[in-house]
Amino acid sequence: MQFYLRDGYLYCEQLSVKDILERVSDTPFYLYSAAQLRENFTAYAHALAGMNARVFYALKANSNPTLLVILRELGSGATLVSGNELRMALRAGFAPGNMLFNGNGKRRDELMLAAQHGVLLNVDSEFDLEHIIQVARAVNRPLDVLLRVNPDIRPDVHPYVATGMRNSKFGIRAERLMGFLDRLKPVPLVRLVGLHCHLGSTIKDVRVFRDAAALMGDLFNAGRDRGFDVRYLNLGGGLGIDYERTGVYPTPADLIGAMRGLLPDNATLIVEPGRSIVGSAGVLICRVLGVKTNGDRHFIVTDGSMTELLRPSLYGAYHHVGFIEPIDDEVRTFDIVGPVCESADFLGKARELPTPPEGAGLVVYDAGAYGYAMSSNYNLRTRPAEYLVDGDRLLQIRRAETFDDLTLTPLSL
Ligand code: LLP
Repeated sequence: MQFYLRDGYLYCEQLSVKDILERVSDTPFYLYSAAQLRENFTAYAHALAGMNARVFYALKANSNPTLLVILRELGSGATLVSGNELRMALRAGFAPGNMLFNGNGKRRDELMLAAQHGVLLNVDSEFDLEHIIQVARAVNRPLDVLLRVNPDIRPDVHPYVATGMRNSKFGIRAERLMGFLDRLKPVPLVRLVGLHCHLGSTIKDVRVFRDAAALMGDLFNAGRDRGFDVRYLNLGGGLGIDYERTGVYPTPADLIGAMRGLLPDNATLIVEPGRSIVGSAGVLICRVLGVKTNGDRHFIVTDGSMTELLRPSLYGAYHHVGFIEPIDDEVRTFDIVGPVCESADFLGKARELPTPPEGAGLVVYDAGAYGYAMSSNYNLRTRPAEYLVDGDRLLQIRRAETFDDLTLTPLSL
């Protein structure tokens, strides 16, 4: 772990976070560890060693360009869900052939951009396929596509992050797949090269990936039997991380181990993890504004809030919370809340913590995935800066927004 406590002081790699806080001064901010990011990616590379396989990092989890360059240099490809993610991946130097554009509602201009660069495209529905055929004709070049299958597998996660169940808005139900093959057969400009599915996110039990690999392997073989040059089997992302800090949690090796024996020999496996690569590589650092009590609840009020980390408010998600240095005062049960004008604004509930003095540094762990990526300007708050530690170096990798960034429309009428 690259974020660790030594004598009660939080460190990120070789740097003390208390020192970083003194240098940075403006809170809240996100803090990432380059070493942790590399370790997390390398865990996938090792798990896949000797296999015909590729990792396509899911940019939606965190698309900071510096982090993207690190991952690209380690050999990652990219999974995208918007034209702007595509632009960001290009800017970070990903080769278009190592990118997959995925989504249930791709706009025509986004499809054009993907087509012009020769990015792999996922087909999500009948209308999506028709749009892709139109775009292939407009650019008059062959486009390689994967069909996104809705496998109807229950991943046992919060309903908002389950994506592969029967009534979900994503993908194509297996029984309708043959219709897509019939539609593609007479259209040589759109070439079917693979199949895709994504079960959901924060998955703790890797046995569901075994079910997915078995089903998708059968569909892969059916596609080949029908004469298509199907090569890629993309089984999505979704491996959870140990937010609760239990110490026992499935690793990328467990995930790949669950699927390995079930993949057709001629398939190139693609996995598209997001959280399990960036989640533990980032934290959110806040300052305590004060402590208060209402009714029978005690609150620590920080300058960080749901606008920097929406996951607790949106999914009731648990993120471990602590202080960046030892605090020797009465331990009480606190809710950790922000300044946003909304009772859903909390970072943690019912945590046993010492009573912090005003100004104390507070850390919310595992904020690297879907932290900045889901941040907002609610209450006209400005998005904070992002910093990266690499060994003993501290780099700002995105500046904080300013009030001027919020006034993009002319103020005079
Ligand atoms: N591939 C596809 C098609 C996806 O839809 C997703 C995530 C991923 C890969 C990456 O999943 P991961 O490995 O990061 O679990 N905002 C939520 C997560 C939403 C995930 C959406 N799709 C959260 O904060 O938990």
